[in-house]
Amino acid sequence: MNSKLSFRIDPMTKTLPKIDTVLKLRQQVSAWRAQGYTIALVPTMGGLHEGHLSLVDLARQHCDRVIVSIFVNPTQFAPDEDFSTYPRDSKTDSELLHQRGADLIYQPLSSEMYAENETTRITVGKIAQGLCGTSRPHFFEGVATVVCKLLCQASPDVTVFGEKDYQQLLVIQTMVRDLSIPTKIIGGKLIREADGLAMSSRNVYLTKPQRTKAPLLYKALQQVVDIVEKGHSVTQSIKAAKSQLTNQGFVVDYLELRDADTLELVDKDTKPDARLRIFAAASLGKTRLIDNLAVSNLER
Ligand code: PAF
Repeated sequence: MNSKLSFRIDPMTKTLPKIDTVLKLRQQVSAWRAQGYTIALVPTMGGLHEGHLSLVDLARQHCDRVIVSIFVNPTQFAPDEDFSTYPRDSKTDSELLHQRGADLIYQPLSSEMYAENETTRITVGKIAQGLCGTSRPHFFEGVATVVCKLLCQASPDVTVFGEKDYQQLLVIQTMVRDLSIPTKIIGGKLIREADGLAMSSRNVYLTKPQRTKAPLLYKALQQVVDIVEKGHSVTQSIKAAKSQLTNQGFVVDYLELRDADTLELVDKDTKPDARLRIFAAASLGKTRLIDNLAVSNLER
């Protein structure tokens, strides 16, 4: 094997090898394949936290080599969103990934991802509508497009996404199925802070008082799940949870019970054996928080 293509981690350095072009990525992937290794990809936008690192662990369980991509993807942000302020700290990300045993960071140059005159976009359809698809209409098209590119560039055997962005996970699963992209999509569990707040790169935007209130979103979801599991009225419990959040200063975008597989809204006609999930998005000041929770159907 060409030794230039094989990245060795110097035990004295705390950072990982990083490459920034499709060509170098493909060379490394080919070199690993020639050695018989399987390859996993964990796509991220950086600003890494324990949620991302748990995905690296999961990727490692499935494959011999783990690539983490870091790219703050402009096409998934609307002009009034936080693209320019999104947390970017390459050094810390690299140290964390080194400690966690990832093998390679792929941090593509913008020009590698979007040629100047590029025009192609991927729209996935129904699963991308509703929930975040309603309030961020540009979002899933941008996500699907960039993930499709990353999959074409890295050709991983396995690709891992977190269940915190549950709708995103389903959108990508649908795209991979519909376009026959040869990778297996695996979802990793949502990871929470000790007080229940779902981990997110955007949590760093919260002021101290907002950070204290933020776990109330999870508490609201727990409250609805509790009531639904006991067989009581979904509509009433969602209404009560929303108004509690509003009273605490949240601006609620949605709080909805949906079928966990199809994301269809759940009503009284929902099949009793359907897997259900409650989804929420709400802002505290400028910070948009999302969360979701499975409903156990034991008592329904
Ligand atoms: O979940 C994210 O961090 C991003 O949406 C993703 C999947 C890396 C695409 O840019």
